[in-house]
Amino acid sequence: MSYSTIVYQQKETIVTITINRPNKLNALNALTLKEIHTAIKHAEEDYSVRCILLTGSGEKAFVAGADIKEFSKFNQVEGTQLATKGQQLVFDCIENLNTPVICAINGYALGGGLELAMACHIRIASENARFGLPEVSLGLIPGYGGTQRLPQLIGKGRALELILSAGMITAEKALLYGLVNSVVSLENLIPTAIKLGKSITKNSSTAISAAIYSVNAGFDVNKNGYEIEKESFGNCFGTSDFKEGTQAFLQKRKPNFN
Ligand code: CAA
Repeated sequence: MSYSTIVYQQKETIVTITINRPNKLNALNALTLKEIHTAIKHAEEDYSVRCILLTGSGEKAFVAGADIKEFSKFNQVEGTQLATKGQQLVFDCIENLNTPVICAINGYALGGGLELAMACHIRIASENARFGLPEVSLGLIPGYGGTQRLPQLIGKGRALELILSAGMITAEKALLYGLVNSVVSLENLIPTAIKLGKSITKNSSTAISAAIYSVNAGFDVNKNGYEIEKESFGNCFGTSDFKEGTQAFLQKRKPNFN
């Protein structure tokens, strides 16, 4: 598969998807969103892939938002379509993926860039990363899930402050807020993400996807998270990974999940 706005690389069980428009600070245009969608679906369908790492190219930005030039002439209908299609194709798609997605935030994560990071399951940032949802400074609001996922992660008051002020916060503050899981130097960013990815990939992939599904259910107003957890827990008992995991424990050896 060939891409023009992203780079797709697999090493052992981990795929790295790098958004690659550094001279536009990796801004998300329609083609980039389409290619990210194709890449994550491709990785999800490949049984050899156990974890996806998402990052941006260069040392300045993860993603500086949706491509402002591309949507600057849009009308109301096109604006609604932009948000609907983008959320479906990429943001909701990532959040609901069976394969865990770690976001390695290597600089600015603004607007659609922060929304992309928040759709991922785990976020690690470099010290130079900056976070914000500056859409109101453009006469817009966040349209890729930012008004929903930011309050989930940092609370309503802090989210409203960030959204209404269109301001930016440092990596240090993002860590304090719980917006990112850890902060490391830029040179250690990818190695740290890969190390975490490797620790995840040692575990049962069927149990991992059930855990993602159950955690997400708790944030879905149409679902009862506790009921989903019970059902998913029960389903685990019917998997070969459950047999292998419990047998390995009883036989005092490491499990070998396929
Ligand atoms: N869209 C399109 N192009 C962008 C961009 C974006 N979101 N962000 C940066 N670029 C482009 C710039 O236009 C510039 O291109 P040219 O060299 O061709 O002029 C290039 O990237 C470098 O950017 P700057 O010269 O602006 O770099 P800087 O260091 O002076 O500033 C910045 C960096 C503070 C991140 C600044 O680029 C900026 O404010 N970017 C826009 C951030 C933003 O508003 N994001 C929200 C977008 S709207 C959105 O995301 C909607 C949604 O929720 C769906």
